[in-house]
Formats: sequence, structure tokens, C-alpha cells
Amino acid sequence: MFYAINDTQHEGQETLVIGLFQKSQLAGKAKQLDELLDGQITGLLKDGDITSKRGSTSKLFTLGLTETKRIYFVGLGREADYSYQDTIDAFSLVFRLLQKDKNSQSLTMALDSFLSGNVSGEEAAHALSETFHRSTYTIQNYKQKSNEPEKPIENVFVHTDLDLNEIQASLEVGSVYGKGANSARTLVNLPGNLLTAADLADYAINLANKYHFDYEVLDKKELEELGMGGLLAVNQGSSEPPKMIVLKYQGKETWDDVIGLVGKGITFDTGGYSIKPRDGIVGMKSDMGGAASVLGAMEIIGELKPEQNVVAVIPSTDNMISSSAMKPDDVIVTLSGKTVEILNTDAEGRLVLADGITYAKQHGASVLIDVATLTGGVVVALGTEITGAMTNSQKLFQQIVSVSEDCGEPIWQLPITEKDKKRVKNSLMADLNNSPGREGHAIMAGTFIGEFAEKTPWVHLDIAGTATTKNGSSLGPAGGTGVMARTLASFVERFEKLQ
Ligand code: BES
Ligand code: MN
Ligand code: ZN
Repeated sequence: MFYAINDTQHEGQETLVIGLFQKSQLAGKAKQLDELLDGQITGLLKDGDITSKRGSTSKLFTLGLTETKRIYFVGLGREADYSYQDTIDAFSLVFRLLQKDKNSQSLTMALDSFLSGNVSGEEAAHALSETFHRSTYTIQNYKQKSNEPEKPIENVFVHTDLDLNEIQASLEVGSVYGKGANSARTLVNLPGNLLTAADLADYAINLANKYHFDYEVLDKKELEELGMGGLLAVNQGSSEPPKMIVLKYQGKETWDDVIGLVGKGITFDTGGYSIKPRDGIVGMKSDMGGAASVLGAMEIIGELKPEQNVVAVIPSTDNMISSSAMKPDDVIVTLSGKTVEILNTDAEGRLVLADGITYAKQHGASVLIDVATLTGGVVVALGTEITGAMTNSQKLFQQIVSVSEDCGEPIWQLPITEKDKKRVKNSLMADLNNSPGREGHAIMAGTFIGEFAEKTPWVHLDIAGTATTKNGSSLGPAGGTGVMARTLASFVERFEKLQ
């Protein structure tokens, strides 16, 4: 699919993609072609027919004068301003365009034309293959007429003067990241009737078999025996059985320094008796976005096999209403032994995550990351581009934030104060309450989960705003984004034991 090359004669040479910086002289491939074409590219640039403005593309036919039949120029703007994120923008733009060009099923990218002082060959190669998968993603829909492109891009030849083995390796890794993120998107896009907790468990088992992970899927009876009262309470109103899904990846000799990844796996959230309004309920199939991120990350981890230990924990059920459903005022006992007074059945995520966090610790997790579409409050606070984060360990947070920046998945920290802790503990009936009120409720949710992480270093990621997007972009259609699959995997790859 991706081939690093540096010879001139090869398949896919008829379509060539070149990045153009705003500078006075053409360089590399563009310069070579300009010479073959008697300076015509320089002329077209001068007249403004081709532009190097960031975000612009121009298509040029060479009318039999060169082996290359068509050239796509991608404007990259000023080289000094150009960053890794801009390579992602440039590649996504061009792959979306080429996906529609039926004569470009094989094509060549002039990699070196996309490099600058800020972006190395390996980084650009990673961005190229990762972005290819992300930008050409199509939703698996159920229309009778297929939405798959008729002539999808099949082979991408990556032309470079750099070390071919290194570039090839980066292309492979980028490809793994792109596919993992897309798997998470596909899970998020699946409707609740087609992705139940049992289906999610089957998906995880397939992943485990493919990558030789140890796994465990607890059914309702086992949850009862272990006392997972949080997950059971949320499941109480459902006719679909709950599942606690655990995958274990051991990349080190001994099972220590274990990273726990805990993902909210609510396959549909009606709100329960604290029912959502009719507009708020649409889209709640995506309430397993955290689980999807974790499973996407586990796919990447399974492919790349880093020297780390990871336990992925996914508490899964839907949140439904029936005569047996949990009610406001109910008091439940979580796996940790802590009791919770239910004030709002729509604050269900924190209940299942409480058991997930405790169970990850029981499986030896020494650091914890939870990922969840947890609150509408985080969307109000930070919008749809930034994931909300909370932590009890600035050192762990530092590692996550730097990886997430590199992945282009920004996060922003919200505080936890002693007063917040008092608010989640404010109950006459139980140790905690699950909904202290609407003031700062994203913070209340995170603070609640922190009570179960206790002393274990922990970061909470609230992806309610970022797990889905209403608008399509050059990175693909509206719907699931697969957010945090790449950040989690990259975090695992780069994780350094906390001192
Ligand atoms: N799954 C929702 C949060 C959500 C909202 C995700 C919008 C994606 C988009 C969560 O379970 C929920 O209902 N949260 C409540 C909490 C409240 C009852 C304290 C919320 O945010 O309103
Ligand atoms: Mn809810
Ligand atoms: Zn929810």
C-alpha cells in the first residue's frame, strides 16, 4: 500500500503530488519538472495560476511532455510557519481530492517537498500514511447503494532521497495509527441496536485473539458475585446483559508498571428515569466513545508491540428504563465498597467507570487513564475541539498532554479542589452522591471518578465534545472521530515510569 522509493521509473508515476512553499526558487522534484517543461511551472506560479498559498491545490497536466501525466500542487505557505499539524492538513486535503480522481489509484508523493526545519522525513512519512487512512475513511452505512469510492487509492509511492528503510518504517507505523483511529470511529458510528455490550465484548475478544492478548469478559452473574454494583445498577433497566471487558497486553517480562486504560462503554444512554429530552437523546449511540478509543489504542498496541504492560478495562451496558431500572434516591454499593446515592440516573458514566477503575487497580494498574463521553458540561466549557482533562498527578498529566499535542488531539485541564471533593461526598445516605448539581458538573464527574482512583496516579479524559463531529472535514465525514485512540497508544509507547 505505501512504498518508499527513490527511483524515477515506477508504477504510480503518472500522478505526482508536490508540496509548494512560498519561496522564490523551486526545489527538488518541482524544479526538475520545471526544467523538463522549459520553465512553465515558474511561469504559472508567477501568473498566479498555481499558488503556494496554504490550503490551495492546483492540478497541472503535462500533455505528454513528461512521464508524469498530472501534477497536483499543494500550497504549504511560508516555510517558517509550517508545522507537523500543517502536514496533516496538506495530506488530508490532497487525499480527499485524489480519492475522487479515477486515474490516480496509484500515485506518487514527493515526500521531500513536504519537509521543513520543523518537520522531519520520518514525521512527514508517519503523517502521510496516518492521514491517508483518516481522510479517506467512509462510514459503514446501511444504504442500499454503496458509498465506497468506485476507484479508491490503492498504492501510494513515497518518493524521497532520505533513508528508504527509515521512511518505510515510519509509513508502516503511521498506517497502523490511522487504521486504529478509524476502527474507533467505526465503533462509535455503530447504532445501539447493532452494538450491544455483548457485541462490544465479541469485538474485544476478536482483537484479543488476533493480537494474543489475555482477556476476560465478566457476565452478569460474575458481576454480581464480585459486587460490581455501579455497572449492575446502570444495567438494571435493560434487557441486554452487561459486560465487564478486560484485555491484557504484556510487553515486559514481569507484570509491573501496568498502564490501566478504562473506557466508558455505554452503548446507548437514554438517561434512565432522569430521561434525556428528545433532542438530547439522539446521538447517544456514541456514549461508548471512550471504549472505542481504548479498543482503537489496543489495536495499535497489538500491532506495534511496545515494551509496556497495559490492562484495558471496559464496563459496558446501555442505560435504559423499565420497572426494574435504578431510580433517583436509590443507594448502591460499588466494587470498591464505597456507597453512592443516585440523584440523577443520567449521571451513569461515573458509576460504571467507578467499577472499571477499581477493577483495573485489582488487575495491577499502577497508573490509570479513563476516557469517557462523560458530560455535556465539558462541551459547554471547552467546545468540540478540546478534550477536558482532570488528574491527581501533574507528572502523569504532563506525559499525556505532550503526547496529545503531538497527535493533534488537544486537551485542557480542569481543576479538582477540596471543595469539589466535599460536594461529591455531600449525602446523608451514602459515601458519595452521583450528581451534586449543574454548577461545574464536568468537574463533579471527574472528581467523583478520582475518589475511586484514590492514590493511584490518574488522568481523566472527558471526550463528550470531541468523540463525534457534526460536520465533515478533510479528515472525513461527520460522526465518530476516533479521538484519543492515537493519543492513548502513543502515550503507551512513550510512557516513562513516574518517579
Ligand atoms: N453521555 C452523557 C454525556 C454526553 C452529553 C455525551 C452530550 C455526549 C454529548 C452523560 O451520561 C450524561 O448524561 N451526563 C449528564 C450528567 C448530569 C446528569 C450530571 C450531563 O452532562 O448532562
Ligand atoms: Mn447519561
Ligand atoms: Zn452517558
